[in-house]
Amino acid sequence: MLNRPLEIVILAAGKGTRMRSSIPKVLHEVAGKSLLTHVLDSARELNPDKIHVVIGHGGDDVRQELASDDIHWIEQAQQLGTGHAVQQAMPAVPNDAAVLVMYGDVPLIRPQTLQRLVDAMPQFPLALLTAELDDPTGYGRILRDDTDSVHEIIEQKDATPRQQAIREINTGFLCARAEHLGDWLSALNNDNAQQEYYLTDITGLAHQSGHSISPAHPDDVDEITGINSRIELAQVECAMQHRIANRLMEDGVTIIDPYRVDIRGEVTIGNDTIIDINAVITGPTTIGSNVKIGPNCMITASEIADHVTIHPNPVVESAKIGEHVNVGPFARLRPGTELAPEVRIGNFVETKNAKLAKGAKANHLSYVGDATVGEATNIGAGVITCNYDGANKHQTKIGNDVFVGSDSQLVAPVEIGDGATIGAGSTITQVVPADNLAISRGRQRQIEGWQRPRKKKPKERKPPQKKLKESK
Ligand code: UD1
Ligand code: MG
Repeated sequence: MLNRPLEIVILAAGKGTRMRSSIPKVLHEVAGKSLLTHVLDSARELNPDKIHVVIGHGGDDVRQELASDDIHWIEQAQQLGTGHAVQQAMPAVPNDAAVLVMYGDVPLIRPQTLQRLVDAMPQFPLALLTAELDDPTGYGRILRDDTDSVHEIIEQKDATPRQQAIREINTGFLCARAEHLGDWLSALNNDNAQQEYYLTDITGLAHQSGHSISPAHPDDVDEITGINSRIELAQVECAMQHRIANRLMEDGVTIIDPYRVDIRGEVTIGNDTIIDINAVITGPTTIGSNVKIGPNCMITASEIADHVTIHPNPVVESAKIGEHVNVGPFARLRPGTELAPEVRIGNFVETKNAKLAKGAKANHLSYVGDATVGEATNIGAGVITCNYDGANKHQTKIGNDVFVGSDSQLVAPVEIGDGATIGAGSTITQVVPADNLAISRGRQRQIEGWQRPRKKKPKERKPPQKKLKESK
């Protein structure tokens, strides 16, 4: 076990040229979080004494987006190589620390793998995380001597064809004692194919000064995939989604097809909840137990209690949904929607800043915006709260046990008392007292034998006859 302070240095200054992006590479997202956030989340699991992040390209944006008290930002003005990057952090690292170096563009790394690397260090001053890859192209290769000890890392661009055939690669993650690391870093030169100060060269320096190097390995090779292009970004997204889906299934969530669900950001889901295909669930969202989520649902920043049923194709955003509520199909719950238990929101219903009390129903084709709806109230088909006068929004208050007949418009600001009934097709502009019937549609009249206007058939026209010119 580690008996010295742990300081983590995350390298995130590189440009990420192959992303072809105006956004710094480490701010691109996987599963709804930036690459660097994933790396920081894993780093924090180790309870380090300090986290240093080396930034360069787009550094101000990175710092702004990920501002946090536990991060010590370090500017690397010129990107002269990974060794140079770590060197920038060293003045802030105490001599007795263990330094864990991580990359900001490797978001799948697991905390237990990092822990294994840290635990591999105490015997020796340097531990490397290495992996065997079927295709090692692009990575630094691990060179071992006759006794199978690691003695050097050679970069792809500096390697001979024989060295390039080696399948054991440097993942880039390493852990070193600060006092040695400082010395090795100051001895680096940039005499190589890329004219960079390679962090990897510390391996040769450690070996030359008689230190053994301790290798550790990740659980699976996916963990060490770095992102350099949009194609790799998509591959890592896929791997991350699979990992999230597996975790949810292990926690008791049924996912009909783990390849067709996307979870982004912080999402918690209770057991015995069933998620059908093509759900996109974005955090921060909590979903209770025994919830049914139908196909093609988009759920964002919402709280969903136990035993809720979400039918296919709704869009739910910043909404609170109580127990035993039914939503959809084809419903749109917009921000500020609060549904008490047993509410029913049916097809083509839109709600916004709307609180519906227990057992209220709006089953078909309605707009309920800037409104409160009392217990057990029924909103008929096609009811509209007219909340907007072109300049301002106004409130509609509907009491308990109200019946709003179909195709009515409630012109806000307006109040409807408990137990009131609104006749179908009414336009309500004034307060309706409790238990009253309000009806504002025109009376029906009958006209017997009414002749509906009919379209006149166009007359059949004869083709114009050509006049023959009279010959003179
Ligand atoms: C590096 C390793 C290689 C390893 C590979 C694993 C070196 C010399 N090579 O190569 O052995 O197999 O990672 O992915 O270390 N960075 C800075 N400042 C710099 C240069 C880089 O912060 O001046 C950061 C980058 O933003 C990135 C990380 O360091 O997060 C790695 O840099 P990159 O250029 O991708 O190194 P590789 O050539 O992939
Ligand atoms: Mg790289």
